[in-house]
Order: sequence, then structure tokens, then C-alpha cells
Amino acid sequence: MDLFVEEEILTPVKRTGTFRGGRVLSGYRPSGRLHLGHYFGTLTNWIRLQHEFECFFFVADWHALTTIYEDTSQLQNDIQDMVLDWLAAGLDPEKCKIYRQSDLPEVAELALYLSMLTPLPWLERNPTYKDQMRELKGKEIATHGFLGYPVLQAADILLVQGQFVPVGEDQLSHLELAREIVRRFNNFYGQYFTEPQPLLSPAKKIIGTDGRKMSKSYNNAIYLTDSPTEVKEKTKIMITDPARIRVSDPGHPEVCSVYWLHQIVSEEILSDIKEKCMKGQRGCVACKSILAETVNSSLEDFRDKRKELEEETDLLEELLARGAKQVKPVAHLTIEDVRKRINIRE
Ligand code: TRP
Ligand code: SF4
Repeated sequence: MDLFVEEEILTPVKRTGTFRGGRVLSGYRPSGRLHLGHYFGTLTNWIRLQHEFECFFFVADWHALTTIYEDTSQLQNDIQDMVLDWLAAGLDPEKCKIYRQSDLPEVAELALYLSMLTPLPWLERNPTYKDQMRELKGKEIATHGFLGYPVLQAADILLVQGQFVPVGEDQLSHLELAREIVRRFNNFYGQYFTEPQPLLSPAKKIIGTDGRKMSKSYNNAIYLTDSPTEVKEKTKIMITDPARIRVSDPGHPEVCSVYWLHQIVSEEILSDIKEKCMKGQRGCVACKSILAETVNSSLEDFRDKRKELEEETDLLEELLARGAKQVKPVAHLTIEDVRKRINIRE
């Protein structure tokens, strides 16, 4: 698979800061409040891309249903929390289209057509399907909807003719499936869709407080909405290098979750953090407290903006409606073309 990696796409974006054209699309399932992994893994990337491309960022609420259909009571809260976090972090509705998947019934119609031509074995061998089946044991997710998750995802992308899709590594198999679906569609109905390209986010995997990947389900996440005190408390319990018992013991930053996060947020003082650790010149308690301060100061603007936005939550519905209205003409064009191509309409 040819991936557009940092060198080719992201670096020029960062450097020029000018509009480059082309369509970017990405979405998130509404999982509620976002954590630092989302922020540094994806959001900062989206925020940069919105200045360079025509961007479509959406709330994948139908995708959420694939796993939470039994209890949807938190869905609206989760959507609200996620969109507030997007906006407070700097996603700008003047610069990109922010919308909700379920506001565009064309997505469902396109997914239906694509489902007709997607062979079952393609879906059954999808690694995320297998992983989730294992992980979400006890939940009935052997459903039609869950198996078809990547088909719906392909419809999201293709409906707006998205060329570039910024995602994490875990989504690459879905992107590959979308590309296969495009080839099959074009093969039957003539060259129409272009194969979407993944844009891998430049940030590395973000490690949580327990040394595993930061994730809501592992209960090891630092949330953007955590208070300064919560950030402090969470950094205190972070896993460090087990070989360090006394301050003077030389440390190994590469195995320490505190250092992992320093790498993301403490660019300017990173060499000092590393050196003092390796030479046994700074204790872990002090090192963690520097981390908490750095995280807290990097979240200052976010916190102010979030507070402002929380007071006007009724504007969110308006914002999403406006987003859907902007995407509608694009969706309409695609769906009309597709209907004609497959002879559902003259
Ligand atoms: N599957 C993505 C996730 O879980 C969400 C998503 C749905 C998506 N449709 C998409 C991402 C289309 C990129 C493009 O995070
Ligand atoms: Fe980790 Fe810092 Fe302790 Fe080194 S000094 S082990 S980097 S917490």
C-alpha cells in the first residue's frame, strides 16, 4: 500500500501553511470526552489540515451504534462532549465542515449499494473485526451492522469523494477495504471513485498512565477536560522505570511512561529530562511534577475555550445543522451519479 507519510504530505503542510486543495475526510465515533491520545494522535493533525485542504470532519454516530445499540442513553451526551472538545482544541467551523453522519441519509443509501458488491470474506477477514470480537466478549456484536462497519466507513469517504483520510494505524485495514471496494465498483460501473489515501498521523502512539496504550477502556487516560489537580494526581501514579529505586540510580527513559508523555509535550526541555534521568540527577517525583506542569500549561487555552463553549451548548445543534447543509450538495451529486451508474435511476 502506498502511504502518504509525514515527509510527503504533513511536512509541507506545516511548512507552507497555505491552502493546497484536495479533499480530506475523517470521523470519530462519539466516545465522549477526548484524552491526550486523541489530541496528540489525531486532533492536532486535523487542526493543521483544515488550513490546507477542503476538510470534512464528522461525528460517526451510526458507527457508534454498532457496539452500543443495547444502551444508547449516553449517545447525545457523548456527541456533545466530543464536539465541544473538537472546537475547544481548535477545529474551526469556518475552516472545515463539521457535521453528523446521521444528518446525511445519503451515507446510508451509498452504504447499501456498496454492501451489494462487497464480498463477505473481505469483511470476515478484517483484523479489527476479529480483534473487537475478542475484546468485546460478552457483548453480542456478531451483527450485520458490526460486520458491515467498514462498508459504512467506505460510504462516508466516498460520498464526499474524500481523497485523503487522516487516521491512526488501527484504521489502515478499513482504508484498504475502502480502496478494494472502489476498485470493484469502478470495475462494474465504470471509472468513477478514486481510491482514498490514508494520512498517517505523525504522532506516535500515546502511552497511558499504566504503560499501555492510552484508552478510555483501560482507565489509564488523561482527559483534555481533567482539572489541573486531576492531571497532577494522574501523573503521580504513572509507571516509571522499575530499576530506579534511589534518585541516584541511573534511569532508562525509554521504558518509562512519564518519558513517553514528555516526548510529546516537553520538546524544549526533553534533552534535560533524559539526561537527568540517565545520570540519576533527578528523582521520578520531581520529573512527574514537571510533566504535570507542562501538560497543564499546554491545556490552558483549551480549558478557557471549553468553558466558554459549555455556556452556549445550544449553538452546537446549529453548528451541526450548518455543517450538514454544507455537505448536502456534495452528497447529492455523488448519490445521483451512483444511482445512474447502477441503473437504479435513468
Ligand atoms: N472507524 C473510525 C474510528 O473508529 C471512525 C470512522 C467512521 C471514520 N467513518 C470514517 C474514520 C471514515 C475515517 C473515515 O475511529
Ligand atoms: Fe521516568 Fe522521569 Fe523517572 Fe526517568 S526520572 S524514570 S523519565 S519519571
